[in-house]
Amino acid sequence: MVNDPLPDHLAAFETEAAGRLDAMALAYYAGGSGNEHTLRRNLQAWSELDVWHRVLVDVGGRSTATTLLGVDLPAPVLVAPTALHRLAHPDGELATARACSATGTPMVVSSLSSTLLEDICAATRSPVLLQLYIGERRSVAEALVERAEAAGCVGIQLTVDTPVWGDRHREASTGFHLPDGIDVVNLRAHAPQPGPGATGGIGEVLGWTVSPSITWDDLRWLCGLTRLPVMIKGVCRPDDARRALDAGTVGVVVSNHGGRQLDGAPATAVALGPVARAVAAADPAATVLVDGGIRTGTDVLRALALGATAVQIGRPVLWGLAVAGQDGVQRVLEVLADDLDRSMALAGCASLDDITADLLQG
Ligand code: FNR
Ligand code: LAC
Repeated sequence: MVNDPLPDHLAAFETEAAGRLDAMALAYYAGGSGNEHTLRRNLQAWSELDVWHRVLVDVGGRSTATTLLGVDLPAPVLVAPTALHRLAHPDGELATARACSATGTPMVVSSLSSTLLEDICAATRSPVLLQLYIGERRSVAEALVERAEAAGCVGIQLTVDTPVWGDRHREASTGFHLPDGIDVVNLRAHAPQPGPGATGGIGEVLGWTVSPSITWDDLRWLCGLTRLPVMIKGVCRPDDARRALDAGTVGVVVSNHGGRQLDGAPATAVALGPVARAVAAADPAATVLVDGGIRTGTDVLRALALGATAVQIGRPVLWGLAVAGQDGVQRVLEVLADDLDRSMALAGCASLDDITADLLQG
């Protein structure tokens, strides 16, 4: 459209966002940990999976629709939990939530969001899940879980790849801090700690939000505490995935935190297949989500062919937010859904059930 300046592919959003964000926000959003090996591998590993398309299939009536945790969705795509959306845009998580509402996309809200969980839930008709960290005091997590239940969240993702924060050089070099008026508002009431004023990197500014002593006991405690379905986020090993199911979860999120935690962790495109097979063998109804480096409709198709139920998108949502607030996020989600629809047609898949492992094996 002539009057519509928004980019029509995700790489262009990234370029435009990089020109708009201040140096600190850009380093925080874009960066990974260590030498950023896993950050790069996440992107590369999806593109290394060739898709052996089927021909002469009637894909005229195709659909990207699916269900997740009993909820109907237009596409198998969720917004991954990312902290501090107000670093990208003054409307922050409210803009993201409204874009999710307009597109029917579930939003996983970071417990480190810069907008109250209740206000985010009120801004969308789409499902909301809470992403949780368990820090030094379980009571802080417990209070947040109660709030999530009261606000109508449909599930919880407990992030388990953060016993400590990864070593993020880009972030530290720009003096990461919480600017005046931007804070981790969900936690502040329960755990007043040094925040605004501290600088250096997330480990220094928000170190108190995670704990190195979290174990499977904490997961069992959480599953017993809440009536909401629980998943763990940050799994790359089949044995850990099986253990998570035994502990009472409904599934796992295969993730390396977007290459921000253990540098050297496998790309999620590599970890997904073995985890999905182990989960399917233990419980065919369990949910397997995946995130990290998913940037195209073909990447979504690859993830589903490897056994994922749905995918999560992290940074592209932040790029959309930085470029044009709600409209930008909406466009990012629409571009990805359209791209999935096109990839399915070209690969000879009329429904998500047609996206099977043989597409990657020839
Ligand atoms: C994250 N991620 C994240 N994960 C989580 O469990 N809680 C959080 O608060 C955050 N915060 C966060 C901030 C930023 C700026 C980024 C980039 C990432 C990780 C996120 O949920 C997801 O795993 C990755 O972002 C997925 O990779 P892509 O899509 O960004 O490549
Ligand atoms: C991050 C945290 C907040 O990756 O999960 O920055």
